[in-house]
Amino acid sequence: MNPASQTFERVAPERVAKVLEALADVLSQGQVKRDEATLDAYARDESDSGVYRPDAVLLPETTAQVSAIFKACQAHGVPFTPCGARSGKSGGSLPLKGGMAVSLERMNQIRSISREDLTAVVEPGVVTGDLMKAVEAQGLFYPPDPNSWEFCTLGGNVAENAGGPRALKYGVTRDYVIGLEWVMPDGEVLRVGRRTIKGVAGYDLVGLFVGSEGTLGVATEITVQLIPLPRQVMTALVVFPSVLDAARGVSAVLAAGLLPRCLELIDEVAVQAIVHRGSFQFPPDAGAALIAEVDGNTSEGVLAELQLLGDLCTQHGATQTLVAQDDSQREKLWAARRVISPALRALKPAKISEDIVVPRSKIPEIIERLKKMGEELGLTVATYGHAGDGNLHANILYEGASQRPLVDEALRRMLVLTVELGGTITGEHGVGHAKREYLALEQAPALLDLQRRLKVFFDPSGLLNPEKIFPALKR
Ligand code: LAC
Ligand code: ZN
Repeated sequence: MNPASQTFERVAPERVAKVLEALADVLSQGQVKRDEATLDAYARDESDSGVYRPDAVLLPETTAQVSAIFKACQAHGVPFTPCGARSGKSGGSLPLKGGMAVSLERMNQIRSISREDLTAVVEPGVVTGDLMKAVEAQGLFYPPDPNSWEFCTLGGNVAENAGGPRALKYGVTRDYVIGLEWVMPDGEVLRVGRRTIKGVAGYDLVGLFVGSEGTLGVATEITVQLIPLPRQVMTALVVFPSVLDAARGVSAVLAAGLLPRCLELIDEVAVQAIVHRGSFQFPPDAGAALIAEVDGNTSEGVLAELQLLGDLCTQHGATQTLVAQDDSQREKLWAARRVISPALRALKPAKISEDIVVPRSKIPEIIERLKKMGEELGLTVATYGHAGDGNLHANILYEGASQRPLVDEALRRMLVLTVELGGTITGEHGVGHAKREYLALEQAPALLDLQRRLKVFFDPSGLLNPEKIFPALKR
């Protein structure tokens, strides 16, 4: 089923009017937007999974306002969907049934950074890259680096349990969040988790809420743990004749016991997309490439690790290892990596972007089989991403609506294959709206049912972010 074409019954306008009336004393005029341009902007995200307009966009600035909004929506039966930068890639913040888009973007203060405790406390609208830079200025490190870090926000990272290239060595958002101020779907405000690095009291609700995709409530304050900033970082571009060689290089590096902090794969289609966009000059013999980044505390150690990595790749067909000589060269490499998604989008009228994960030993196999599938169906498949941890962005580029049934077939085959190989349908983008009908490929009915019951327990009315994650129930 093509999620972009699904329609849902929308909430009645009279109910929306009642909520706005109830909030008239809570929000200022500038915190309620209903103009066409704003409604259009909040109707989409980066998932290519459809356009769904909210009836109003609400921009709370305090926890009390978030709570009041949730309470008013519950009182009048109006759906409400949290959002932030709208950079999500699974439709998690799309207001499928209309109602209120509740954007946390104005809660954007870094409240504190503690060098002594190695923690930071932030509001959900803080841009991830701003936190990274602020802690790095103090010799600290916040590793999760979703590719959209220049504009995505921590609230969204928490909702989706965002990953990124550095997840290979350092883990994902959930590994860093230790405490949350959490507004429940009924508007109740709770503090969950802790401010200490260790702590096991009670159920791990932080673990549950991080990655709940905006369906169990929303974070209004986030406490993260930090680690010391590695003193030395080196980045290299490793050039291969083909993506299969590169994939084998990834397996060889990991099998040798090396743990670079990033090991990103760029296949032939993605290399060409970057070149086409004029974003980076690859050596002429570059079919495919890896971006490898290693870190540590001494330059000798880091260099030795990178050399070993390069040697292993050479043994698996790499033709060159180009080491970035300074920060500006490093940044150019990463900028080329960050541009892949928009660059692929520019190649064809439409694309879908998946974030499948397979056990690392299966990376060469899945790449080979996806390429074969693309050839069989006559579709362009591009594969890039966090190959080091088995998380691949497999994209299907296509001509538009007329090819969509074929693309749906390709997507189903891709996800079935992923699960067959022992993998999962989403490694970092979430299930959201885009992949809900595929969750049953991976999870048993009893498990889906348990999670549905959890959702009902937290949100009996189902008004918070409806129609997400779990397959639609057959009527
Ligand atoms: C990336 C996004 C798509 O890694 O997750 O480019
Ligand atoms: Zn990614």
